[in-house]
Amino acid sequence: MLDKLKEIEQSALDALKSVNDQASLDAWRVAHLGRSSSLMQVFSGLGLLSKEERPAVGQAANKVKIALEAALAERTEAVKAAALAKSLEEEELDVTLPGRGVRVGRLHPSTQQLRRVVEIFAEMGFQVYTSREVETDEINYQALNFPPHHPARELQDTLYIDAGERGDNPILLRTHTSPGQIRAMREASTEHPDDPPPIRIVLPGMCFRSEQITARSEVQFNQVEGLAVGENITFADLKGSLSDFARRMFGQNVRTRFRASYFPFTEPSAEMDVECFVCGGKGCAVCKQSGWLEILGCGMVHPLVLENGGYDPRRYTGYAFGMGPERQLMLRYKINDIRYFWGNDVRFLEQF
Ligand code: PHE
Repeated sequence: MLDKLKEIEQSALDALKSVNDQASLDAWRVAHLGRSSSLMQVFSGLGLLSKEERPAVGQAANKVKIALEAALAERTEAVKAAALAKSLEEEELDVTLPGRGVRVGRLHPSTQQLRRVVEIFAEMGFQVYTSREVETDEINYQALNFPPHHPARELQDTLYIDAGERGDNPILLRTHTSPGQIRAMREASTEHPDDPPPIRIVLPGMCFRSEQITARSEVQFNQVEGLAVGENITFADLKGSLSDFARRMFGQNVRTRFRASYFPFTEPSAEMDVECFVCGGKGCAVCKQSGWLEILGCGMVHPLVLENGGYDPRRYTGYAFGMGPERQLMLRYKINDIRYFWGNDVRFLEQF
């Protein structure tokens, strides 16, 4: 019986030498270590042996099993290593080949322009104040000195939110960034009611109006509001700061002009034009031959607005302005349809 075990071991090891892949490894294991292999039959025949023979044969059979398992493990490793070597050789990878370009995303053109505007004012000492897009009628209109039946509050201009019965203070989507003036002033004056600090902020963000969507009007657009409040702030500060902004944004030699205008929350009010940066002021289709482009609305903060913000108008004055980055981009790049901005067409967005 011991001789037979030697034979079993030898023939199994011989057979293993010609095994070169995973499939024949599996087949070998079934044939030589499987339930019906000669070796396992020795184990199941142990009971038929005499008491004297049994321990020696049992031990020898165990040794053979251990030897075969070890040989199998070793062969498995060798087969794997050979397969790896073969694949490395055949599927050679040229690591010096240039890679495929990764498509990198970019900021939306409006965001880029918002950031340019904000950066310029940051250099002039303005901080960014982010106000909410969902507002109350009180902050969006009343506190900004819009009389109760001002046409801007009509349904055709304002997107109202159904928030139950709220009398004459319904919830709405802000129609401009100016309500942020009230929020910023109230925040500062609540902290220091007797001596509110000076304010110098810009407020960028989305505004909403219930407009028919056309090439010239959209239901959503961005604005950048600006607010400076303090003692002894004059219209000269407004003109100086905004002219400086225009030079930094549109070129050092650009000329500006202020035209009288009207807003309920500023007095006096003005609109600022810059010399047409498309034709240099000579007159073209973009400036409609006038040589000037209207760029923003502005004015001295109305005393009632200061008061509604918690700032005593006998002590404080201030100026405010509001501009539209989409409008600036449309003028600069001769974009003739505002719907491109939110149309999500990459052929448009990729150009910025
Ligand atoms: N809120 C005004 C608008 O939407 C712009 C503006 C802001 C005018 C601040 C004056 C001062 O048209």
